[in-house]
Amino acid sequence: MVSRVIPVSTFDLVLFGATGDLARRKVLPSLFHRFQVGQFSEESRIIGASRSDMSKQAFRSFVAKCLEEFSDTASADESCVKRFLNLIDYVQIDASTETGWDVLSSKMRPQIISVFYLSVAPGLFGTIASRLRASGCSNRESRIVVEKPFGHDLPSAQALNKELLNSFEEDQIYRIDHYLGKETVQNLMALRFANSLFEPLWSAAHIDHVQITVAEDMGIAGRGEYYDQSGAMRDMVQNHLMQLLCLIAMEPPSKFSATAVRNEKVKVIQALEPVSNANIARGQYVSSMPGEDYLDHAGNPHSQTESFVAMKVQVANWRWAGTPFYLRTGKCLRERVSEIVVQFRDPPHMIFDGTEGHKGNTLVIRLQPDEGITLHTTIKDPGPGGMRLADASLDMSFADTRVPTERSQDAYERLIMDVVRGDQTLFMRGDEVVAAWEWTDPTIEAWQEKRFAPSTYDVGGSGPEDSLLLIHRDGRRWRPIGR
Ligand code: BG6
Repeated sequence: MVSRVIPVSTFDLVLFGATGDLARRKVLPSLFHRFQVGQFSEESRIIGASRSDMSKQAFRSFVAKCLEEFSDTASADESCVKRFLNLIDYVQIDASTETGWDVLSSKMRPQIISVFYLSVAPGLFGTIASRLRASGCSNRESRIVVEKPFGHDLPSAQALNKELLNSFEEDQIYRIDHYLGKETVQNLMALRFANSLFEPLWSAAHIDHVQITVAEDMGIAGRGEYYDQSGAMRDMVQNHLMQLLCLIAMEPPSKFSATAVRNEKVKVIQALEPVSNANIARGQYVSSMPGEDYLDHAGNPHSQTESFVAMKVQVANWRWAGTPFYLRTGKCLRERVSEIVVQFRDPPHMIFDGTEGHKGNTLVIRLQPDEGITLHTTIKDPGPGGMRLADASLDMSFADTRVPTERSQDAYERLIMDVVRGDQTLFMRGDEVVAAWEWTDPTIEAWQEKRFAPSTYDVGGSGPEDSLLLIHRDGRRWRPIGR
């Protein structure tokens, strides 16, 4: 396999919230990695913008430190780091006042693609967008990038959309869901739409059920204040799990374009049935170590917020009626594993004796770690002993298909380059976000109304007991978290 880096056009990227956590951990290292492989030239510029009073030199030192901490500078030659730092500029800017906007405007090059990356609290999206426009920093070719949380519920998401649309057109707005930038998530589309093998089987007629698991081993310590306002449903299901569900359930788009792909995704979200409390399990982790429970990390002894949620979801359309989608996600679970399990129906009639336990085929799509796809099949147990059956798997690890010297790309690297290219396929459209909240809100309201309290689960386990019951009562089992 040949590594191909397709250079992008020269750009000016203005990073608001340039000294924040996301900028340090993800955005700046991702830009460096793309520079390192030659995807953009020294003509491009990265302008940090924040309220801190800092010189350009001080910001460059800050960036150098981020790279040391969060990117592989050890393997980079020193001159590459130096050349990258030379692209960096800084403007002190205050979103709520006039300070700094004329300076920023004087730095913009109107003939060059401009990207405004808002790594700031959502409360500032609208103000920054309108100041960018009013100060003449942006033009019709500019792109604006925003991060989740994109709203807290339907009204707040609609208000955010409106604020952004006051200053930018929808085709200039890039709402990031970093799950869409993950290699395997895109591979999911390749698997479904570049192969003819699966499509005829991809429906309720042949698929018994689908499981989507995003398990994390980390807790919420250090971000309890944000998380406790949000919970697993808003933090993970409304966006990341929903995106995975869309890619599994959507109809084949007519082409791999932003409009065609996003049209199909919206239709899936609109087809989701509301989920009743009977089809939900919520949990909070508890630890045998003092001070390590969810309630301690949240800093709220009375919190009713869930750090785990599992649910049975129905996609009410012709393709999927009768095939449930079981979703689960949680913190402090046994391992960090994200995977999708597509369970095909059992053979309609088994001609072999003694074949209990041999079920329909299972397709497992692993997002992380160890990205890849495994198809579990049944074969004859090799050797003598009559016609006995055994499990065998067709296994593809994406690491094996990569050029050996090539590191795997972080989701942010791909997504930021897509912004520069002007490709919105892997970003959420405004109506998609709205549809996702339209489905999420009533579910949350229903559990709030009924005071549906979360149960507890042990740190390092698989989630609360009722999440097991949720699937066992349908005669099915979760695939274990971790091997
Ligand atoms: C973020 C959530 O969007 O995704 C976090 O806010 C979560 O709570 C993270 O930990 C998971 O992302 P990843 O890429 O590590 O699976």
